[in-house]
Amino acid sequence: MSDLLVCGIGRLVTNGPGGDLLDVVESAAVVVRDGRIVWAGPESGMPSGYRDGPVIDVDGRAVIPGFVDAHTHLVFAGDRSDEFARRLRGDSYEKILEAGGGIHSTVAAVRAASPEDLAAEASRRALRMLRLGTTTVEIKSGYGLNTPTEVAMLRAAREVGERTPLDVVTTFLGAHVVDRGMSSDDYVDLVIEEMLPACAPLADGCDVFCDRGAFSVDQARRVLRAGSDLGLIPRIHAEQLARTGASALAAEVGAASADHLEQATVGDAGMLRDSGVAAVLSPGVSLSMQMPMAPARMLWDTGVTVALATDCNPGTGYIESMPFVVALACLEMGLTPEEALWAATRGGALALRLADRGWIGPGAIGDLVVLDAPSEVHLPYRPGSDLIWQVIKRGIPVG
Ligand code: NIG
Ligand code: FE
Repeated sequence: MSDLLVCGIGRLVTNGPGGDLLDVVESAAVVVRDGRIVWAGPESGMPSGYRDGPVIDVDGRAVIPGFVDAHTHLVFAGDRSDEFARRLRGDSYEKILEAGGGIHSTVAAVRAASPEDLAAEASRRALRMLRLGTTTVEIKSGYGLNTPTEVAMLRAAREVGERTPLDVVTTFLGAHVVDRGMSSDDYVDLVIEEMLPACAPLADGCDVFCDRGAFSVDQARRVLRAGSDLGLIPRIHAEQLARTGASALAAEVGAASADHLEQATVGDAGMLRDSGVAAVLSPGVSLSMQMPMAPARMLWDTGVTVALATDCNPGTGYIESMPFVVALACLEMGLTPEEALWAATRGGALALRLADRGWIGPGAIGDLVVLDAPSEVHLPYRPGSDLIWQVIKRGIPVG
C-alpha cells in the first residue's frame, strides 16, 4: 500500500459533478493510493490516517487534473522546419503536399528510421509533454503508408507508454494520404485488406484524414467501418482544409471524435451533439498554419463536448504544450479559462472514451498537476510562462 497526500491546495479543480463546470474546492487535499485517488475534498474534513505516508504541501497553489492530449502525431522522423519557413513566405501546405513534400517527406524519413529511433524520439517528445502537464496522450500512425511501417509506428507509440510515465492511446491512421504512385481506391483497398488486420492488435482507434487532397467521405466510411469491425474506435480528421461532410460521417459511424472542424457549420455541430461525437480542436495548428480557428464558441454553445489537443506533428503544428493550447483557446477561440481547462482535461478524456481521468475524485487515476499559480486563469493570463510546479502521474511525482 502506498499513499501520497497532496495538501495545502489553495484551489482544487475537480471537474466533478458539482454545480459549476470545474467544481472547485478551496483549501483542499487529495489522497492517492496505489495510483488511484481515494479521497479529495476540503482539507479540514480529511479523515485521520492519511498523513502517514509521503506528503507534498503545495503551499496554496492550484491543482488541476493532468492534461489529456487527445490528438497527436508524436511518432515521426525528419525535420520540416524548411517547409514551415516556406509557408511563412507564402507557399501553401496543399501545394507542397501535391508536389511530393509535406506528409510525404515525413513518410520517407519514417520509413528510413530504425524502430529504436522512432520510439526514442517520440519518447523524448512525450517527456517534454509530461513536464508541461500532459499525463495521457493519444498517438496516431499515418507516416508509414505501408503495412510494415504503419505497424512499426504503432509499436513505437506503444513503447512510449512503456518508456515514459505517460499513458498512451494509439490510433491507426493508415488513411492519412495516398502513398505516392498509387490510385486512391487501390490505396484504400490496401488499407482495409492488409494494413488494418496487421495494425488492429496494436491500435485502440482508427482515424481517416477525410479532406480535400486526402480521402473522400465514401472512402473514409469504408475504412472506419472496417476498423469498427476489428474493434477499433472510429475518429476522423474532419472539415479542416475544406468542408466535406466528414462531421455527418462521424455521426453516422458513431465516432468518438471529429477532429479539427475549422470549417464546421452550425448544422455539423448539431449532428455531433446529437450523436455524442466529441469535437477535438487544435488552435496551435491554426496558429502555425496561419489559418482561421475552429468555431469553438459555436461548438460549445451548441452543446458539443469540446476537447483541446496539441495535434503535435512535424507539418501543421510542432506544438507539445497543453498550457499553450489552453491559452490559445481563450485568446484566439473565445473560450473562457474554465471552459478551456475543462476541454483540455475532462474533454480530452471523454474524446478518448476514458472515464477514469480528467477529473479528481475517488476512483479516478491519480494524475495531478500543481500549477505555480493560484488558479487556472493564470494559464491564459500568462501565456508562454512555465507555470507547472509539479506533475504527479498515478500518485508518483514525476517532474
Ligand atoms: O493533423 N491533417 C492531417 N494530418 C496532420 C498533419 C500532418 C502533417 O502535415 O505531417 C494534422 O494536421
Ligand atoms: Fe492530426
